[in-house]
Amino acid sequence: MSLDRGKAKSGRISLKPVTGAFGADVSSVDLNLLDDRMTADIRQALLCYGVLFFRDQAFTPEGQRAFASRFGALNRHPYVKGIDGYPDVFRIVKEPEDAHHFGNGWHTDLAYTETPAMATVLYGIEVPDAGADTVFSSQTTAYEALSDDMKKKLEGMHAIYTNANTYGANSKRFQSGVSKAMSVSSAEIGEVVHPLVRTHPETKRKGLYLSPLHFSRFQGMTEEQSKPLHDMLVQHATLPEHTLRFRWSEGAVAFWDNRCTMHYAVDDPIQSTRVIQRVTLEGDVPQ
Ligand code: SIN
Repeated sequence: MSLDRGKAKSGRISLKPVTGAFGADVSSVDLNLLDDRMTADIRQALLCYGVLFFRDQAFTPEGQRAFASRFGALNRHPYVKGIDGYPDVFRIVKEPEDAHHFGNGWHTDLAYTETPAMATVLYGIEVPDAGADTVFSSQTTAYEALSDDMKKKLEGMHAIYTNANTYGANSKRFQSGVSKAMSVSSAEIGEVVHPLVRTHPETKRKGLYLSPLHFSRFQGMTEEQSKPLHDMLVQHATLPEHTLRFRWSEGAVAFWDNRCTMHYAVDDPIQSTRVIQRVTLEGDVPQ
C-alpha cells in the first residue's frame, strides 16, 4: 500500500477516507482475527491516514491488548490504574454528573514524558445515544498549511510540557473532576522538552508537535511570552480543515497515531454513562 492516501489500496481491508485531510473508516475486518498481512495493511493505513475507525468489534481486555501488541510494546499509564488483571488496559468513564471528561482538552497522549505514546487504541464499551464524541486534529496537514516563513520561524524551536496541568496535586482538571470509577493518582511534577516541529519516524513527514493540555512554555521564553504564538498555532491546528469528529457506537474502535495527531474528548452533556477502554503503545523520543 502506498503512503499516498490517494493511492492507498488494499485487497484485504476496505478503507474510506473521512475527510480530505486525514482519517479513514476501515471495514471488512475483525480485529480479533488479524493475520500478519492484514496487520501490515492496517499499519500502512495508519501511516497514511493518521487515525482509523472500525465498527462492530468485540474486544475483551485480552483481545484489545493482543490487537495493540501487533503494533508495538504496550504502555502502562503512569497515573491511571488499569483494570483488574490488566495493568496496561484502563477504562475512561464519564457519568452524566461528572465535572470533567478525562482527556477534555487538545493533547497528544503522554506528551509530558520523554517518550510520548506512539499510538492509542480506544474501544467503545458503553456509549450515550449522543455526546462525548472524540475530535482529532492532523498536525501534519496543519504544519504543511503554514507559510514557508512561519515554518522557518518554528524550525529549531522547542516546547516544554509538564504533567502538572493534569496530574499535579493541585490540578483541578482531573483529580477532582473525573469519574470516581477511574483511579487517577497525582504526579511528582516534572517537565520535558520536545521539538515544536517533529519528523514522523516512519513517514518522514514533518508536523507540529502540540499538546496544549500539557503545554507550559517555549524553551527560552516565559509562559506569557509563549502564549501568543502557542495560541495562534493551536487555533490553526484546530481549524475545521485540519480536524474530524468521531461519533462513538458500542463496539467502535479508534486507533490513532499520536506522532501526527492531537485529540480532544468533548465534554458536552450526556444522558447516560460512557465507558471507553484504552490501550496505549509506547513511543520514542520525538525528533
Ligand atoms: C483520551 O484522551 O485518551 C480520551 C479520549 C476519549 O475518551 O474520547
